[in-house]
Amino acid sequence: MARIFSGIKPTGHLTLGNYLGAVRQWVDADQHRADALFCVVDLHALTVDHDPARVRRLSRQAATLLLAAGLDPGLCTLFVQSHVDEHTRLAYVLECTATDGEMRRMIQYKEKSARERAAGGSVRLSLLTYPVLMAADILAYGADEVPVGDDQAQHVELTRDLAVRFNQRYGRTFAVPKAVLPLVAARVMDLQDPTSKMGKSHAETAGIVYLLDESDVVRKKIMRAVTDSGSEVVYDREAQPGVANLLEILAGCTGRKPMEVAAEYSSRGSSYGALKKDTAEAVVELLRPIRDRHAQLCADPSYVDGVLREGAGRARGLARPTVDAAYRAIGLLPPV
Ligand code: AMP
Ligand code: TRP
Repeated sequence: MARIFSGIKPTGHLTLGNYLGAVRQWVDADQHRADALFCVVDLHALTVDHDPARVRRLSRQAATLLLAAGLDPGLCTLFVQSHVDEHTRLAYVLECTATDGEMRRMIQYKEKSARERAAGGSVRLSLLTYPVLMAADILAYGADEVPVGDDQAQHVELTRDLAVRFNQRYGRTFAVPKAVLPLVAARVMDLQDPTSKMGKSHAETAGIVYLLDESDVVRKKIMRAVTDSGSEVVYDREAQPGVANLLEILAGCTGRKPMEVAAEYSSRGSSYGALKKDTAEAVVELLRPIRDRHAQLCADPSYVDGVLREGAGRARGLARPTVDAAYRAIGLLPPV
């Protein structure tokens, strides 16, 4: 059976982008067809300015929301990264496999560090080394597939490079994983700025739909989405990014292709208004059951604790032999 690993950072409230780009595949497909591990990667949330209490709160919320969205602990393993020491243990060994040039070429590092410096802040060293920790997350479990949104493709590519390099230098130790992107909505864009990604850590929230937004808030955000000049509904990401984004979201919610959805609207001569209204309703219907289930689960924190405890136990058992093997292969003396 294939092994699948993916993760989500508790840096903010989960968004529609997280759901359509990643979580939905985990719930609908991955947990049913493979040995799947899903991780709240809290160590990754410390790479930027953070508030300890908020990270703690968001970690619990992310785990609860993943269960609310339909991850089933009977089918998959859900755990918190910092509960399993093997991740950081392996990250160091992979730091000795990666180069600093490789790290500096990562798009996300370039963008985030530039933003931080422009604001007069300093850049944490962990922001630079973060893709190595992500590689460790994946390689520790021998994952074959990594279901992620488009923005993580480069990090998974780096993970492959590190696995291949390590195996060549020190002997076959790691499975070489590949990224699996959704066909639709692999990059959901901000509703107010459809040229940038809908990101959960952004300060401005009018363009971001959160999974826990009330239905009226969802409707308002989508009805106010920036659309393009022109009025015909066509799917063209370059020329009409705002409309294309709504089409992707609607297609993502209803399991269709954006092109098909666009053709329906243009054949009916429908306006942007109709597209917005239908998209808003589709998202409201998508999120309602998740929000309801989240509220139920919040009333039972010991259930969530139990799932995470068990998940971490299983994850530890899986990761330990691989990380031990990597330690031996790279030349570290086994404990005597
Ligand atoms: P993050 O929020 O950065 O921890 O991302 C968790 C998962 O959601 C990753 O697989 C991302 O690629 C995916 N993701 C995050 N934002 C988006 C977005 N706007 N569109 C599609 N996928 C996304
Ligand atoms: N870097 C990913 C993100 O920002 C989160 C992540 C960390 C991850 N470790 C991972 C995703 C391992 C997939 C596999 O979205």
